[in-house]
Amino acid sequence: PTCERYAVRRLPFARLEERDVAAFERLMPGRVVSAEEEVKPFNVDWLKSVRGCSQLVLKPQTTAEVSQVLRYCYERNLAVNPQGGNTGLVGGSVPVFDEIILSTALMNQVISFDKVSGILVCQAGCVLERLNEYLEEQGFIMPLDLGAKGSCHIGGNVATNAGGLRLLRYGSLRGTVLGLEVVLADGSALDCLMSLRKDNTGYDLKQLFIGSEGTLGVITAVSILCPQKPKAVNVAFLGCPSFAKVLETFTTCRAMLGEILSAYEFMDEKCMELVERHLKLSSPVADSPFYVLIETSGSNSTHDEEKLNNFLEQAMASGMVLWSLRERITEALTHEGYVYKYDISLPVAKLYNLVTDMRARLGQSAKNVVGYGHLGDGNLHLNITAESYSHSLLDAIEPFVYEWTARCSGSISAEHGLGFKKKQFIQYSKPREAVVLMQQFKAMLDPKGILNPYKTLPSAPERSTC
Ligand code: FAD
Ligand code: MLT
Ligand code: ZN
Repeated sequence: PTCERYAVRRLPFARLEERDVAAFERLMPGRVVSAEEEVKPFNVDWLKSVRGCSQLVLKPQTTAEVSQVLRYCYERNLAVNPQGGNTGLVGGSVPVFDEIILSTALMNQVISFDKVSGILVCQAGCVLERLNEYLEEQGFIMPLDLGAKGSCHIGGNVATNAGGLRLLRYGSLRGTVLGLEVVLADGSALDCLMSLRKDNTGYDLKQLFIGSEGTLGVITAVSILCPQKPKAVNVAFLGCPSFAKVLETFTTCRAMLGEILSAYEFMDEKCMELVERHLKLSSPVADSPFYVLIETSGSNSTHDEEKLNNFLEQAMASGMVLWSLRERITEALTHEGYVYKYDISLPVAKLYNLVTDMRARLGQSAKNVVGYGHLGDGNLHLNITAESYSHSLLDAIEPFVYEWTARCSGSISAEHGLGFKKKQFIQYSKPREAVVLMQQFKAMLDPKGILNPYKTLPSAPERSTC
């Protein structure tokens, strides 16, 4: 279990009793999972790097049921772990101890879609890819896309403020989410499910829940502004001889492609090696130290193609294959053993220096040190692999990686959140006063601390008592 690897002590929440399970069964008959084998996958994260020991998964279908569950847990002082598609990469989606798992898997209904405004209102458990398919039929798309789209839920995306592959074009969820419905720790429902582009009435409370990783409330419904489906999408894949060339190409690209540029992603040769080896994908271009994937999305195919062709000697047609090379790096890395993941925002000019410095620092003690990410957003994914987890390797990586990032005024979590694994490092990116204010918000909204305890905000160092 997680608590053996990380020194963390169980907080004095109540322990689950038979009468609790019976009460939940009465609330939502047939949607209470307690058989050990069935609960198991909900206890382990996507990376298989952390594991909790919850005995119960609850699958509400409505906001009223979420309210009833939380009211009950609040009164009984039972801790709760909200869970969407369980694709989170920082250990936030699974319990640390025996927290009850509140899954949004059955909250998967579209509530409304307005074709004039492009505003979608849906329950939090809708799978991102299903929403995108639903919208595409009507000439729209979701404003975000990520490799985990087939499993992640829109509520989980909002709770992590996921970035992904379209942020460069459509911006962050902080701009596209127009409203949220949230159930607070004591069971009260907060209806901020607005569908307005403009609304300056008081504080924008929904922003507090975007990126709060299930620690302030359970998101039950989302209202989100969706763009028109672009009529012309082109993808190109290029090899670059150096990282300097990756940057130079980005500058040229922005100048020549302007408003139609929708993604500028990069990966190094190590990443290519791994997707080729483990996923049997093949590079469409000659071997190079770096690769970039460029996507354009516009409304006039002839015009866009012409623009792209002016920029490139050859624009590749088979976009799906090209995107797989980039999107499936995460999956390829898991075949290499244990993955130490870092998700860093940096000024683009310095972005790859962290990879080369880390490679030099770790030498033979790491199997791979790779870099890829959303270059257009200044977001590096530095990943280090080893045959298995080792504490000494972790000590060689951390806090070095965070100190390095702080020296460049970067962020130690660009888009994945802090979850369980990164929460103790928040001070590298936020001043003490900001962390204290966050703790005050948490105490106000969740006075008993039952919602996703041990996550996002730092706790005092403790000795393990597992
Ligand atoms: P979960 O993993 O279930 O939960 C994540 C966090 O949100 C947890 O803290 C959980 O408690 C909380 N949570 C979930 N649902 C709710 C809710 N309804 N209310 C309150 N809290 C809730 N991230 C990016 O930003 N960009 C990427 O490009 C990207 N690509 C990925 C590719 C792969 C292959 C994988 C595996 C992950 C990727 N991620 C990426 C990580 C990303 O955080 C998630 O995929 C996604 O946003 C999480 O959604 P989920 O439904 O799986 O949430
Ligand atoms: C990505 O951009 O591929 C995701 O954020 C997942 C990862 O960092 O591996
Ligand atoms: Zn990413």
